[in-house]
Order: sequence, then C-alpha cells, then structure tokens
Amino acid sequence: MKEETKVILDVDPGHDDAVAILLAAASESLDLRGITVVAGNQTLPKTTLNARRICTAAGITDVGIYEGTGSPLVRDQVTGEFIHGGSGLDGPEFSPAYVEVRDKGAVDFMLDELMEADDGITIAAVGPLTNVALALIREPQVKANVEEIVVMGGSMGIGNYTAAAEFNIFADPEAAHLVFETGVPVTMVGLDVTRQAEITPAIMKRLREIGNRVTDLTLEMLDYYRSTYKRAFDLDNPPLHDPCVVAYLIDREVITTKAMRVDVDLNSGIDYGRTVCDYYGRSGREVNAKVGIELSSELFWEILLSNLEKY
Ligand code: RIB
Ligand code: CA
Repeated sequence: MKEETKVILDVDPGHDDAVAILLAAASESLDLRGITVVAGNQTLPKTTLNARRICTAAGITDVGIYEGTGSPLVRDQVTGEFIHGGSGLDGPEFSPAYVEVRDKGAVDFMLDELMEADDGITIAAVGPLTNVALALIREPQVKANVEEIVVMGGSMGIGNYTAAAEFNIFADPEAAHLVFETGVPVTMVGLDVTRQAEITPAIMKRLREIGNRVTDLTLEMLDYYRSTYKRAFDLDNPPLHDPCVVAYLIDREVITTKAMRVDVDLNSGIDYGRTVCDYYGRSGREVNAKVGIELSSELFWEILLSNLEKY
C-alpha cells in the first residue's frame, strides 16, 4: 500500500475549492493534515464560513480549519465575486455550519505542522498564495520539510482575470513571486491544464447518477458555477480548476508536467500578475518549477467521481 501523502490544503472557497476539499477528505491516498483558508474568491470571513459550510455538509469533522490572511501582501484586494457570487459559494442553501475553525491561525498551523513533521509535507494551494508566502518568509528553515508546493494558478498562455493573468496569481502576485523564488519544489497547475477539466452535461449526468447528499450538493454548486461562467466567459462547459491539484496528488499520471523557469511579472501594467513560463529555456535562468501541460481528463473525472461516491 502506497504511503499516504501528507497534505495541507490552502483554499479560498469558491465552488471549485469546495469540490477540492470534498475530494481531498475522501481520498485514502492523502493524509489531509488541515484546511487553511485565505481571502481570494471572496473576503476572508466569507471564504472561512464557506470552508465551514462544506465540512459541515459533508460531515468532515476530523480535519481542522484554520483561518488565514485577509488581504494580499502588497496590492489592493480583488475577489472572484463575478463567478462565485456575493457569498463566495452562491447557489445552494446551506444549513448552519456547526464545524468551527480551530483556535490557531493558518500560518501558525502551517509552521507548526512543518516544524513537527518527521517527513515532508505537501502544500496544495488553490487560492492566492498569501498564507504560503507568509509561512515561508517567517520561518525559512521549514522549507526543508516542504515536500512540494502544488499550486492551482498561473497560465503559460492567456489569463482569466486579466488578459495576461490568472486569478490566484493576480490576487497576490508578490506572494506568488516569493513562493516561486523559495527554491522549494513547485508544481504549477495552471489554466492550460485546468481548462481541460470541463464540466460537461455528461459529467453532470454522472454526478446525478451517483445521487448521494454530497454529489447532490456538488450538482447545486456546479449548476450555479456553470451559469456564471456562461455569463462571464460564454463558456458552456466551464473548467473545474482546483480539484485538478488534489487529483494530481492522488495519481501523478493525471497531469503531464514540464520543468521550466517561471517568473511572476510584478511590473504595474497590463502584464501585472502574469506567469512568464520559459517553455524553451530561452532565458537561461534557473528552472524553478514543473508546469502542467496536459490533463488526462478521463482519469481526472474517474478519480473525482469515484471519491465523491464514497460519501
Ligand atoms: O483561476 C482559477 C482560480 O481562481 C481557482 O482557484 C478559483 O477557485 C479561483 O480561486
Ligand atoms: Ca480557489
């Protein structure tokens, strides 16, 4: 039996974050050490409440939720309200959340876990990288215990929040820059990959056929998410971004990656927050990341649906 991967999941729920939490909590391949919350798709109070709502709805009571950082390191705050709604998780009616946050901050939790770990811990970051950056700059020595940081963020090509930048990076480019510069192994699961995780009517049908309380909730969330992606991007089959990171930790075959140099553009202007991916090594700069280039979408959906079936 393959040893479980110890994971801290950093989220800004967010509809796709919510599904990433459900997947991570269900998988026997992962030892989910904790869920840390960051501002992103909505403000921190809302993303924290949404993490509590999802854990309550799915009965995830054995994984700590830790509230993190409410604003980016340098820039002004932006949100993903145009996709995720005013609550950050619009669509379903949630019952009162009884799962509470733990009485430790997200950065403190990350540092405690990393300092006490007797082997590597993987950080799966599916929101802006503020919490992760703060942990690594506050106690750089913990980097030795970071197995890998797998980031949903960035793009080798076009952006989704601006023409050039993907939302998670754009929401805190300085934090992203710090993470890519730490020398810790970083895997970037960007839009080039997640755009292949299309929520099609066939996928919605497969979810409906499972028919448990968690897949029913997932259907409600994705119905809303599909409606806002149609309105905002005229996409009929929107990408389910964040669970791609968790599926990759469960089975590395699901994403093909290529090692390359990644730099985050911090210049103010139209490219602010862009991930400049040196695919052909033209810069001669030190390679600092593995970048996702291909998703095995059939395997991805099999991993996700087979785990949601367990609830
Ligand atoms: O660009 C997609 C990313 O931004 C996803 O993590 C989504 O949840 C939003 O945070
Ligand atoms: Ca997210």
